[in-house]
Amino acid sequence: MDENPAVHQEMFTTPEEQPRSDEPNPVDCNKYRRCLLVLFAFSLFATTLGLGIYSHLQKESQLKSAAPPCLSPACLKASEHFSVAMDPFSHPCDYFLFACGAGGSSTNKERQRVKGSSNEDNGELDKKRQVRTGGLVRMRREADVQGKSDGRLNTFPDRQTALLKAIKEILESPEEGVSMSAAEQKAKKFFKTCMDAESPEKVRSEPFLTLLQQLGGWAVSGEWNQKDFNTTLTLLMSQYSTFPFFSVYVGPDSENTSNQHYIQIDEPHFQFPIDWNSKTHKSKASTRYLRPFYLSCGQYLALLGVPSNKTTQHCGLYISLSTTLAVATSPLHYRLSQKLLYHRITIQALQTVAPAIDWLACLQAIFQPLPISQSDIVLVHNLPYIVHMSETIRQWRVKQEIMGTIPLHTYMIFSLLQTLIPALDSRFFQTMRNYSIATGDTQEEMPRWWRCVQQTERGFDALLSHAIRERHAQKEAEELIHDVYSSLKKKLTDLSWRDNKSSDFILKRIKSLNPRLSTKTNDLNHTELNHLYAEVVLEEEDFFSNYLQMLVLEQKSRCRLLSHGTRAEGLSITPSISGNDIIIPVGMFVLPFFHSSYPRALNYGTLGSLMAKDLLHLLLPDIYTQANNPVSESMCVWSHYLSVTKDPGQAGTFSLPPSKQQEVWVQYSALQVALDAYKMSFTRHPTDSSLSGLSYIHLFLSSFTKVTCDADPYREFMPFEPSFLVTVLCSNSGFCPKLLTCLNKSQSYPHEMLCQSRTLH
Ligand SMILES: *[C@@H]1O[C@H](CO)[C@@H](O)[C@H](O)[C@H]1NC(C)=O
Ligand SMILES: *[C@@H]1O[C@H](CO)[C@@H](O)[C@H](O)[C@H]1NC(C)=O
Ligand SMILES: *[C@@H]1O[C@H](CO)[C@@H](O)[C@H](O)[C@H]1NC(C)=O
Ligand SMILES: *[C@@H]1O[C@H](CO)[C@@H](O)[C@H](O)[C@H]1NC(C)=O
Ligand SMILES: *[C@@H]1O[C@H](CO)[C@@H](O)[C@H](O)[C@H]1NC(C)=O
Ligand SMILES: *[C@@H]1O[C@H](CO)[C@@H](O)[C@H](O)[C@H]1NC(C)=O
Ligand SMILES: *[C@@H]1O[C@H](CO)[C@@H](O)[C@H](O)[C@H]1NC(C)=O
Repeated sequence: MDENPAVHQEMFTTPEEQPRSDEPNPVDCNKYRRCLLVLFAFSLFATTLGLGIYSHLQKESQLKSAAPPCLSPACLKASEHFSVAMDPFSHPCDYFLFACGAGGSSTNKERQRVKGSSNEDNGELDKKRQVRTGGLVRMRREADVQGKSDGRLNTFPDRQTALLKAIKEILESPEEGVSMSAAEQKAKKFFKTCMDAESPEKVRSEPFLTLLQQLGGWAVSGEWNQKDFNTTLTLLMSQYSTFPFFSVYVGPDSENTSNQHYIQIDEPHFQFPIDWNSKTHKSKASTRYLRPFYLSCGQYLALLGVPSNKTTQHCGLYISLSTTLAVATSPLHYRLSQKLLYHRITIQALQTVAPAIDWLACLQAIFQPLPISQSDIVLVHNLPYIVHMSETIRQWRVKQEIMGTIPLHTYMIFSLLQTLIPALDSRFFQTMRNYSIATGDTQEEMPRWWRCVQQTERGFDALLSHAIRERHAQKEAEELIHDVYSSLKKKLTDLSWRDNKSSDFILKRIKSLNPRLSTKTNDLNHTELNHLYAEVVLEEEDFFSNYLQMLVLEQKSRCRLLSHGTRAEGLSITPSISGNDIIIPVGMFVLPFFHSSYPRALNYGTLGSLMAKDLLHLLLPDIYTQANNPVSESMCVWSHYLSVTKDPGQAGTFSLPPSKQQEVWVQYSALQVALDAYKMSFTRHPTDSSLSGLSYIHLFLSSFTKVTCDADPYREFMPFEPSFLVTVLCSNSGFCPKLLTCLNKSQSYPHEMLCQSRTLH
């Protein structure tokens, strides 16, 4: 019996499916003959191998009419995304070159940089940094954010946009009488006051100035009662989510796989770009942005009613202090190489090396009512910065006494202002916006709803996770996760590893990991949710005061994370590892990527392949260095590509940089894993519906093409359109509705070019 996997595959193909066997293609003829031979063997084998289901699948996929069309509202909407243009089989020649362009997808031109190729250890830290700085503000805005449809084929939004839209829909859904929980009512009210652009304009800078009075005043704009430095700092950090001199957040230790969460202390976010000198290993505020920075400082002071003759002095000192602090910051890659990340230290020891801050008191305030003691461990991500910061504060205090000024206090007030700008009138926002444009920010301004959804999520993350799960991620989501992970395990078990010890370790780990929907670990019921938000009292018209309450909610959420180790994954869209769990955030399961009424071929082809890709990226660092297949498989796919696209001019461009090699393997594996998962689900329920006349594997492959073209954040690492992978898959597999070959191109890729591992298919 021939062990060749190609043969194994052809067992699933009936002769009449072999396309155009009468054409004089030597490869095909050869295939056909072997196929007949194998068919004979097949009959002996079929029962034991349990292939019935596969042939059933095949027969079904030939008969489009056998799959009833899906007519749910979600499907009707999804069908806008599908047309013959996204069907890889409709134009096999264009297909491998510019399939993504064919349907009018716009993302081609504006490929999006993905932060870090996620094989870097600092991915996690980066993510936190983003969360911490409200970094989501910088998400891409897709052409169709507003649901524009000018006759061209609709592109999928990126996943972040899709999630924000889903949340918006929840927040805007009509109030269903008494059945809606009190907590949900509050979230909706917060969102509504945020969307009301008018009310902040009426009160202008008044609320901020009033708040300053409550905090003890500000010498720049009036009286200052000289409150103690530590007291003010503690207040800002614990009540206003404002971290002027260093930032504080919660997360696990990178090296420890236990689920224990720690307080983490990091550099603060500075308002200006910082240059890193890689020779001297020193940071310096970019001088060319200091002037715009100074100007924006003056504008803020003017908005707060400070006479303009005070600008020079206060803004000068403010900039001087900021840039002095920034000197000791360093970029992640440097901190990684110097082992400055995740430095474990007790609070007591931290007090000794950085005495200008009252660490215990301020951490106790931030995490009240949790007990924090001197001997607790915190993780510091740049201790030299913390030491420098402390020393700077000491020196400036001395200066302050001499000069009679209040730069340390001013610095803190400006940090507070930055935190509160979203709740102030639009002149503040415009000033911030103009400054960020001056520093080279080319992002379009996010629509108001976008910012409001993000702000609502900051305070109501637990509620929104719950709501998304209730509305979107039901049983079908659990099944998808289960099938994708099982099929992924199968794929990984089948790899050939460089050495036994590391493969044992990796496989054991992969088997011990347990994928789960995020809210399972902290799914609160309605009663608990209402309790969580019990103390929140929102005003009908006063967004500023609502915003302050949201900051307090954020503080509580930080405490919950520290005490329970569970985060409501609110806006998260990528899986992460936490202890022995792989957390699959509910935010992945939103339209148009997933819906419980969709044909499963669509769910598996779209979200299934995205999830497989995310999981592979998550587990990749270990796999890629220790297994042999990734390199050989990606080279196989690449030779395949060269063999069909080779032009005289292109010959010789054989090498592929490692990062691209790796991505080719990930994407091709993700396609295989998702397909295998779909088959697994088909084994359980051997029926499915259709969409736009497409069904089963045909719909699966079209969905895969669609989603990799539109919404794949890793596409820039691909050396070709990822949809070409369908061509590779179909050149070897009997599952495809037909072979994907371009007839007017002589294709002479070797028959053995399988590019896939044995257990799948
Ligand atoms: C991981 O953390 C746990 C709990 O804090 C601790 O007992 C264990 O020693 C740590 N393991 C390593 C490798 O640091
Ligand atoms: C600023 O100008 C005001 C009047 O416009 C004046 O009273 C004040 O003394 C000036 N302050 C400084 C520091 O020049
Ligand atoms: C803050 O408190 C600490 C601990 O009590 C103290 O050593 C430090 O001098 C205070 N910092 C300032 C700037 O007052
Ligand atoms: C921002 O820049 C625009 C265009 O340069 C200008 O018209 C506007 O007045 C500026 N707004 C503020 C608040 O500085
Ligand atoms: C790994 O294990 C297999 C069987 O378990 C054995 O045949 C092989 O020699 C081992 N390889 C190494 C490098 O130890
Ligand atoms: C919600 O959970 C709490 C604690 O787990 C429990 O005591 C309560 O009965 C639950 N309420 C509902 C309505 O299920
Ligand atoms: C194949 O032929 C079709 C029409 O016959 C043509 O449009 C297409 O460009 C050709 N493709 C290639 C790769 O030559």
